[in-house]
Amino acid sequence: MAIKHELFFLLAVASATILNRAMAGDPDITSDFLLPPNVTAVNGTFFTYTGMRNIFQTAIPPAFQATKASLKEFPALDGQSVSYAVLQFPAGSVNPPHTHPRSAELLFLVLGSLDVGFVDTKNSLYTQTLQTGDLFVFPKGLVHFQYNSDLNKSAVAFSAFGSANAGTVSIPGTVFNTSISDDILAKSFRTDVATIQKIKYGLAA
Ligand SMILES: *[C@@H]1O[C@H](CO)[C@@H](O)[C@H](O)[C@H]1NC(C)=O
Ligand SMILES: *[C@@H]1O[C@H](CO)[C@@H](O)[C@H](O)[C@H]1NC(C)=O
Ligand SMILES: *[C@@H]1O[C@H](CO)[C@@H](O)[C@H](O)[C@H]1NC(C)=O
Ligand SMILES: *[C@@H]1O[C@H](CO)[C@@H](O)[C@H](O)[C@H]1NC(C)=O
Repeated sequence: MAIKHELFFLLAVASATILNRAMAGDPDITSDFLLPPNVTAVNGTFFTYTGMRNIFQTAIPPAFQATKASLKEFPALDGQSVSYAVLQFPAGSVNPPHTHPRSAELLFLVLGSLDVGFVDTKNSLYTQTLQTGDLFVFPKGLVHFQYNSDLNKSAVAFSAFGSANAGTVSIPGTVFNTSISDDILAKSFRTDVATIQKIKYGLAA
């Protein structure tokens, strides 16, 4: 009986720990906000990010572009578990498959239409064609992409993240644009070294 109770207790502790991990975002802070180490006092300027001011005044970039307001660009986000990005898609452009290891992404399409999709851990693909005004959530850590299939019209989306530093792992970049050996990649993708080198060459440019 006592052993049974202990086991139950251990299981309860273990599942509470797992639940806690599943719910965790950035670590909680024990003050209202965090200042960079070399700063002692701030005013409203510290909590203001002006790096997006010109984004709607200049022409849409010739290729897909993500402009971020995350911890690196906007230090006041430290400890606040939020960040932002503006995604600009010229006609026909793609944001290739990637993941954000530390956050879900909540995308809000404000211009054009956009084909989006993600793949879950069972390899099921979930896709949708978004219209202006639609929101779509990419679950945390899952591989996803966005594609503006309209060959005549740009698309623009705002993406919010539940981490000050969601991180981006590009699938093409991580797999084919680092120093993983051609042999390992050829075996992994069940192809030959020449094919791997061809893919690598296209990404390195
Ligand atoms: C604090 O350090 C950062 C990064 O090194 C620098 O950009 C910033 O100007 C510094 N701020 C002050 C008030 O010294
Ligand atoms: C706020 O602080 C910045 C320096 O970080 C300073 O340049 C600016 O003048 C201050 N603004 C006000 C209203 O005091
Ligand atoms: C783009 O728009 C022009 C007219 O504005 C139309 O003639 C053309 O077929 C369109 N192309 C595509 C790929 O939709
Ligand atoms: C591949 O890596 C090079 C060098 O780091 C970089 O300039 C290039 O943009 C990368 N290409 C892609 C598609 O990530």
